[in-house]
Amino acid sequence: MTATEPLFRPFRLKGLELRNRIVMAPMTRDMAPEGVPGGANAEYYRRRAAGGVGLILSEGTVIDRPASRNLPNIPFFHGDKALQGWRGVAEAVHGAGAKIGPQIWHTGSTKGGAWKPEAEVESPSGLLAPDKPRGRAMTEEDIADTIAAFARAAADAKRIGMDLVEVHGAHGYLIDQFFWQGTNLRDDRWGGATLPERSRFAVEVLKAVRAAVGPDFPVLLRVSQWKQQDYGVKLAASPQEMEAWLGPLVEAGADVLHCSQRRFWDAEFPEIDGDTGLNFAGWAKKLTGAPTISVGSVGLGGAEFLAAFRGEGAGAAPLGQLMDRMARDEFDLIAVGRALISDPDWVRHVEAGDTAALRGFDARDLAELV
Ligand SMILES: Cc1cc2nc3c(=O)[nH]c(=O)nc-3n(C[C@H](O)[C@H](O)[C@H](O)COP(=O)(O)O)c2cc1C
Repeated sequence: MTATEPLFRPFRLKGLELRNRIVMAPMTRDMAPEGVPGGANAEYYRRRAAGGVGLILSEGTVIDRPASRNLPNIPFFHGDKALQGWRGVAEAVHGAGAKIGPQIWHTGSTKGGAWKPEAEVESPSGLLAPDKPRGRAMTEEDIADTIAAFARAAADAKRIGMDLVEVHGAHGYLIDQFFWQGTNLRDDRWGGATLPERSRFAVEVLKAVRAAVGPDFPVLLRVSQWKQQDYGVKLAASPQEMEAWLGPLVEAGADVLHCSQRRFWDAEFPEIDGDTGLNFAGWAKKLTGAPTISVGSVGLGGAEFLAAFRGEGAGAAPLGQLMDRMARDEFDLIAVGRALISDPDWVRHVEAGDTAALRGFDARDLAELV
């Protein structure tokens, strides 16, 4: 077995076969003028597919609600023009041998920068973060319309030839604003003292999405403990709380949980199984039985990523731990974000063991669609 073989095993998801375990993490690029992905966007994704990625998750692409995006060039996942653009992206990616699904998103009351959407931003309780008012609290009608918009986006994903859909339920955006006690103060059926009560919105979104795509189309859900508003938040403080949170989401229609953390090697509950214990995706899989995707700082050390594994450098933990965890099937897939921004051929380089070619991440590469 070569050092990186656990990464290069195929994976089956319902009827979908992935050629390896490497997923391109969803990454907002804010480079779709008028919300429409064009040739440059298709080419950007095609390059990662040609570079060997198994599954591409698109940048967050927003559902059909006023103020569902927080930057002006985030792509839409609604309307003929944008969907036609996404169809082109899917065809380009398929032509290069990878699978692809859009990450469907509503940014809630978050701020992307100084830009303001055309409509007032919306969230469960009109809060950006605890005690930070922004925008308005959603009405029953808003909530129903938002759930329907998620379902339409999922149906459109299937219709235009995408392989799956990922619902963005992480990082302090709309769905996560319902999960989080700090931003969901509602006293109706969309709020509550417990996380399972505050999960009702996500459950209803997933049920509607599942009903829209049928039983065989894979639906992924991205979740995180942390929020961009506060990296220290933990929605679930124990495995019991995590099971009570994630179990109903799987039951409602999520086939795969994409468990976002900032460093994949951080144990989720070190007080239980130590500093090298199961990570978030590991616990989520153990508790729900659903396949999971992990993520977080893979390959950021550049050449060190492989070299350290071979004993050629310091800091062996990252790749060594990734391979060990994947060989044990602690989780099923690994998403790679920033390393793939800087190097579309990152997967090929890792597969070939080409240490010299690995450069890590350079933030300057965010300036354009490399
Ligand atoms: C430029 C950029 C944009 C991102 N946009 C999104 C997004 O649209 N949706 C999402 O779920 N995560 C987003 N993320 C988080 C990534 O998907 C990923 O979880 C994070 O970068 C950690 O992985 P990495 O260490 O491999 O980069 C973004 C990250 C970056 C760097």
